[in-house]
Amino acid sequence: MAAEGRDPELIQAAYWIVLGRAATANELYAETRGRLNSDQLTLLHGLLGSNEFAELRESWKAGRETHNRELLEAALNRLGAHDLFVQRVYQWVLGRPADPGGAEHYAALLERGTRRADIVRALALSDEFERRWQAVPRDSQLCELANPAKWDNPEWLAILRSLGLSDDKLAMHRKPYEFTQFIYGCRRLGALREDATFLSVGAGHELILYWLANHVAKVVATDMYEGVWQGMCAREGDPSVLHNPDQFAPFPYRRDHLTFLRMDGRALEFEDLSFDVAYSLSSIEHFGGMEGARQTIREMARVLRHGGVLGLATEYVLSGPPHDETFQPSEIADLVQHSGLELVEPIDEFVYRRYKTTPVNALHDPYQSPHMLVRMNDTVFTSVMLFLRKN
Ligand SMILES: C[S@@+](CC[C@H](N)C(=O)[O-])C[C@H]1O[C@@H](n2cnc3c(N)ncnc32)[C@H](O)[C@@H]1O
Repeated sequence: MAAEGRDPELIQAAYWIVLGRAATANELYAETRGRLNSDQLTLLHGLLGSNEFAELRESWKAGRETHNRELLEAALNRLGAHDLFVQRVYQWVLGRPADPGGAEHYAALLERGTRRADIVRALALSDEFERRWQAVPRDSQLCELANPAKWDNPEWLAILRSLGLSDDKLAMHRKPYEFTQFIYGCRRLGALREDATFLSVGAGHELILYWLANHVAKVVATDMYEGVWQGMCAREGDPSVLHNPDQFAPFPYRRDHLTFLRMDGRALEFEDLSFDVAYSLSSIEHFGGMEGARQTIREMARVLRHGGVLGLATEYVLSGPPHDETFQPSEIADLVQHSGLELVEPIDEFVYRRYKTTPVNALHDPYQSPHMLVRMNDTVFTSVMLFLRKN
């Protein structure tokens, strides 16, 4: 049976009630895919958390009209009898069934000719909704697209600063996001422990290796270290790190907690069940398409202990055609499905519905910032961060 949130009619009703408009073809497609928003709650979290809804509420508070009243009313009138409509507004705006007093009160108002849109606005501007709105811990999620709102999360920012990185929003960039989000997630999942062992795949000489060496028992950095990245990507695969790791250390670190090894991520030379955490940042998209990525994830899962955490950041296409070394959302879902591990929470793929960010043109302005979305020809992509658990 289709989950409730996947029913197109219900989705359209939710869009009309919450946003006062129909879902576009693209939105309907995204909402009905069902893969990552298989319940009604997820659908409505996306709508209630959107910039669009926040702007509507601000206008209503200021007494500004936001819609063509006649058109909106005609659409809302198609959503069933008065009592059903009131139930839906309660459920979707307040997140609970209508109590008998409320149901009766609003049904009576509708009988007397009050507009349906005004019932929605009354509930959206109620003290109860305001409390619900304030109580939502927004943007503390772990599995998500690179998220500008994390720069407003004090716990997250403290980690960013501890890495020695700037918290200036104008310097916002996917790279610090990935580093900080990975540590934030490990901490929240209880994986960042003094006795924990960490494996990085496609590690280069990334900054967090040195940070982790100061916080966990053992960090093993693996990479092909062929030097092929030296020109393009700030020498990320520089083999000289194998002999002289100190040259890349951004701060003093515990040398005996960090080892660098030349190794193919697709064939890890470790026993099964060897690590508490295995992670890979901005790398698996370069390991030979879907097959290389699948193989690497399988290997990482194999060497994880039961209860261990796999952290992954890779390229996620938001719009446009497939592009080399990026993954379409369906491919990300495929990688998750074939990992044999479980996502610790659904992926928040709606970040860029809530936050407007201009993509950086990777060909013409590669150093422009904020640098959260990237455009390559017609393809726009960003990073997706995933945390999976081995049972
Ligand atoms: C874009 S860099 C990312 C480096 C680092 N994780 C970071 O975030 O700074 C990609 C890395 O993947 C490495 N790499 C490419 N193919 C690999 C493979 N099959 N196994 C292991 N590492 C590989 C490259 O050498 C390079 O260091």
